Amino acid sequence: MYRIVSAIFLAENIKKFEIEAPRIAKKRRAGQFVMLRLSETGERFPLTIADSDPEKGTITIISQGAGKSTRALNRLEAGETITDVVGPLGTPSHIGNFGTSVSIGGGVGTAIAYPTAAALKAAGNYVITINGARTRELVILEEEMKAVSDEAYITTDDGSYGFNGFVTQKLQELIDSGRKIDFVLAIGPIPMMKAVAEVTRPYGIRTVVSLNPIMIDGTGMCGGCRVTVGDEIKFACVDGPEFDAHLVDFKNLADRNRIYQHEEKASDEAEAHRCRLAAQS
Ligand code: NAD
Ligand code: FES
Repeated sequence: MYRIVSAIFLAENIKKFEIEAPRIAKKRRAGQFVMLRLSETGERFPLTIADSDPEKGTITIISQGAGKSTRALNRLEAGETITDVVGPLGTPSHIGNFGTSVSIGGGVGTAIAYPTAAALKAAGNYVITINGARTRELVILEEEMKAVSDEAYITTDDGSYGFNGFVTQKLQELIDSGRKIDFVLAIGPIPMMKAVAEVTRPYGIRTVVSLNPIMIDGTGMCGGCRVTVGDEIKFACVDGPEFDAHLVDFKNLADRNRIYQHEEKASDEAEAHRCRLAAQS
């Protein structure tokens, strides 16, 4: 059992948890994730480790209540426990001394971009961050991103805060201004990562994305997280989750992520029905 030390909402439906997991806190590196299970019979699901405190023995994860398990996680509070937290899993981010790097977080993807941006900064890179959200209320980790950046930009789709537009428009603006950019990391929704890859491709800028396929065991055994990268089949849980953005087959990833949408919808409807019955009794 893993005790939740703190649990706070960063934005609507996005919750930050600090969890006691001393062994993971000591070992984890940027880009790695944990697999969680909320009960003995619950499903296993992955979440990236956003931060850790080896002294306190805690890790930080950030969860968007998008499916049944993440919604159930987001109902937990400090003092409660999580049945299983397994990790650290996945290949850590490759942190080189690239020069000028741009770390882009789209929406809740910022929780994953943040630790790698911090590691790039610690390795001596000049770090530019672009933190995008649909609207001001959905911007997360603004101060944390700023603290590890030489330049930090916020974008909102509706212009309610920072630059008015998508993260890709801000990136294009930086490129058009003549800045030499050596490395781009982009993490967020699939259309965003694909769009970033298309912005950087003509300039030959090395670009890395973190993929979020369906994961079941997280250890390379089940094949659930299969992705196509160039001519190769890779397993995101062990070979990734970070890959060369210019080689990723994003359509295949999006199609595979939709495989269980009917089952997920049925499960959501059953949950809503149970809640209505509970409210009536
Ligand atoms: P969102 O849809 O609000 O988008 C966040 C930002 O991404 C936008 O503000 C915009 O700047 C940019 N963006 C979105 N679509 C774009 C496009 N077509 N072109 C250019 N830029 C675009 O994000 P959200 O609701 O926080 O994200 C939810 C999605 O992110 C879910 O589908 C989730 O599965 C995925 N996700 C991915 C990862 C990962 O590891 N890649 C991690 C967490 C969540
Ligand atoms: Fe099973 Fe990656 S989650 S192989």
